[in-house]
Amino acid sequence: MGHLSITITLISFIFLTHYHQLVHAESPTQPPYSCDISNPLTKSYAFCNLKLPIIERAKDIVSRLTLDEKLAQLVNTAPSIPRLGIPSYQWWSEALHGVANAGKGIRLNGTIKAATSFPQVILTAASFDSKLWYQISKVIGTEARGIYNAGQAEGMTFWAPNINIFRDPRWGRGQETAGEDPLVNAKYGVSYVRGLQGDSFNGGKLIGGERLKASACCKHFTAYDLDNWNGVDRFDFDAHVTLQDLADTYQPPFQSCIQQGRSSGIMCAYNRVNGVPNCADFHLLTNTAREKWNFNGYITSDCEAVAIIHERQGYAKTAEDAVADVLQAGMDVECGDYITKHAKSAVLQKKVPISQINRALHNLFSIRIRLGLFDGNPTKLKYGTIGPNQVCSKQNLQIALEAARSGIVLLKNTAKLLPLPKSNPSIALIGPNANASSQVFLGNYFGRPCNLVTLSQGFENYAKNIIYHPGCSDGTKCLSAEIDQAVEVAKKVDYVVLVMGLDQSQERESHDRDHLELPGRQQELINSVAKASRRPVVLVLLCGGPVDISSAKFDDKIGGILWGGYPGELGGLALAQIIFGDYNPGGRLPMTWYPKDFIKTPMTDMRMRADPSSGYPGRTYRFYKGPTVYEFGYGLSYTKYSYHFISVTNNNLHINQSSTHSIIENSKTIRYKLVSELSEETCQTMSFSVTLEVTNNGSMVGKHPVLLFMKQKKYRTGNPMKQLVGFESVKLGAGDKGEVGFEVRACKHLSRANESGVKVIEEGSYLLFVGEEEYPINITV
Ligand SMILES: *[C@@H]1O[C@H](CO)[C@@H](O)[C@H](O)[C@H]1NC(C)=O
Ligand SMILES: *[C@@H]1O[C@H](CO)[C@@H](O)[C@H](O)[C@H]1NC(C)=O
Ligand SMILES: *[C@@H]1O[C@H](CO)[C@@H](O)[C@H](O)[C@H]1NC(C)=O
Ligand SMILES: *[C@@H]1O[C@H](CO)[C@@H](O)[C@H](O)[C@H]1NC(C)=O
Ligand SMILES: *[C@@H]1O[C@H](CO)[C@@H](O)[C@H](O)[C@H]1NC(C)=O
Repeated sequence: MGHLSITITLISFIFLTHYHQLVHAESPTQPPYSCDISNPLTKSYAFCNLKLPIIERAKDIVSRLTLDEKLAQLVNTAPSIPRLGIPSYQWWSEALHGVANAGKGIRLNGTIKAATSFPQVILTAASFDSKLWYQISKVIGTEARGIYNAGQAEGMTFWAPNINIFRDPRWGRGQETAGEDPLVNAKYGVSYVRGLQGDSFNGGKLIGGERLKASACCKHFTAYDLDNWNGVDRFDFDAHVTLQDLADTYQPPFQSCIQQGRSSGIMCAYNRVNGVPNCADFHLLTNTAREKWNFNGYITSDCEAVAIIHERQGYAKTAEDAVADVLQAGMDVECGDYITKHAKSAVLQKKVPISQINRALHNLFSIRIRLGLFDGNPTKLKYGTIGPNQVCSKQNLQIALEAARSGIVLLKNTAKLLPLPKSNPSIALIGPNANASSQVFLGNYFGRPCNLVTLSQGFENYAKNIIYHPGCSDGTKCLSAEIDQAVEVAKKVDYVVLVMGLDQSQERESHDRDHLELPGRQQELINSVAKASRRPVVLVLLCGGPVDISSAKFDDKIGGILWGGYPGELGGLALAQIIFGDYNPGGRLPMTWYPKDFIKTPMTDMRMRADPSSGYPGRTYRFYKGPTVYEFGYGLSYTKYSYHFISVTNNNLHINQSSTHSIIENSKTIRYKLVSELSEETCQTMSFSVTLEVTNNGSMVGKHPVLLFMKQKKYRTGNPMKQLVGFESVKLGAGDKGEVGFEVRACKHLSRANESGVKVIEEGSYLLFVGEEEYPINITV
């Protein structure tokens, strides 16, 4: 009897493990997961016990692994561990502006064939609407779960957002970021992470405790914003960054992403910072992220970033040293297979202690447990009911449309050319981007869109007769143009819309631009067509980074200019709605548009602050002192808004806590407090509550982002000339008034980094301002 039952158990065990692997690791219609209750061993595994703390469960898994099994888990393609019923896991998936199949974990070839493709991030950023950013990533998280539930995902760890500062207009990946301002990037990162991971929009409390709907990853840590310029590439680049710039420009988005966003992932970047490769930097990964900012998650390398530490940078003398350096620094998983090849010998050579390998594994398995992948059949759990009908849904596409419409920036509108009349005019769509489809509209890192609307499809709602001419015969490169034919087309129609700009052939990953003008003969095409047209023309620019369009800016024959970024799958509809006045544009530029001479500045110079003695102009609206084509925050509308400060809780803040420090500069004493010496509670209370009235003085309803800036009344060298301290979007009907509130915190918004990278709050007079409206405040210490 006893014998028989053992035999039956054994048989069913073998059968079930086999069955388990068959169904959950190989069938394309079931999501992969561990701790299947039909496996009799599940009950005996502490790691399957939902009542235990996550770290205990992770430790239990790690304690069961052999050394070889452990080392095999330290790369993005983590193999299955069949004897424990643990399926393989793919750490690398992408979701920059919609679930993408650009990584390795997502397949869009099953029941689900597409995912909502939102605008490229730089355009979404131009809405300055953090609630919208959150809505977008919430949709991305939902669609990711839908794809996973349909058995088309091998992982739920997404390597987004990209929160590097768009420091130089030439950067090929500037399009992936929220622009040049640290506060905007920080808020974008927090909104994205909280939406994707299934947390609430605001407030520290996390909805599911440590549970994750999907896992976000803030990248690329840190000071990464050069891809390939003038023979210098990201793999070899050693970024020389001052402690001051690090503290008040490069690091704040990462700090917020970790502390307010509670991101469960970070990616260390390829480049070195002051000689040390980011992925091998103990001070960065362990001291700063984990210890100072309490990072609770996993750290991945960028792809092949471990190999280059030895092979390109020569920082590590041997392959084993490179593996040891990154694991000792605090990196947990490599994108690549260098660890697969060299970890064993590194361990045998005693270069990596097992304790560091265990630490990495605890972090990695904790994430998989937090994702619910060790709780039994996940389709029976919290997010298990998200089905294919929630991918590409009408509501999701509506948000993609809203994002494009809210981001598009009206740069010029002389003689009120725009909006065009809805009288069914004849229209010529001319230019290399006039018939743009996925290759242009989606930028990079995209999945197959649900239903892309081209510009001419968008225009069909408004214009009877649409004639298309590319103008250039080789796309945006435009080395060869058909200017005469384009001119002939332009002469025939009521209105001409020129659709110019860039695409991934001009700005992309691994390729920075070497000039800021429109490529090839595009400018000549614009001039000729504008000159020949019956009426002033509309110029639409599709590009991520800025272009110098000074000549169009000042050309009377160009009546309207719109910047459309890379507007996502509903970009064609959004642009048409704006051009014909069914939507009032309200986007504002998230980065400075520099004149073409800016390229005299080497892209490799990481300094933010200007250095007049050497002619270095500085970077971004905070420090750049030269002329601009368009400023950060610039953007028009079909209506006009005016502002009025209603109240500011106090106009004098006296900081009496902690000791006062001072420096003497030009024989003047400047007194200040150190943020690090003020308690968190004190920092919470030291703030100005600002209430602002906004009036829509025009005749059209509009959504308007209000940008609140701060500056020191008397500019002091080394400090930002101005700094964005808050932004909020309001929707106002024609003639309506609304109120917007801001909380300006002394520690966070009015502090600056001194040259040693120490955050200080200086005594003195400051101005809060919105547009032309100013409000003076004082700080005494
Ligand atoms: C989808 O693509 C993956 C990876 O290329 C492949 O293994 C799988 O068989 C495909 N599934 C279908 C249903 O075509
Ligand atoms: C525009 O592009 C689409 C494919 O992206 C193509 O089918 C169509 O023929 C093009 N239209 C013109 C007028 O070239
Ligand atoms: C600082 O000022 C606050 C109110 O302005 C007061 O309540 C507090 O006692 C003061 N603290 C010290 C140490 O003087
Ligand atoms: C806008 O409207 C407000 C309130 O009606 C008025 O005070 C203000 O002068 C107007 N501003 C402009 C520029 O017309
Ligand atoms: C920055 O502030 C700290 C703290 O007061 C001080 O020790 C350091 O010397 C300051 N650095 C500079 C360059 O003024």
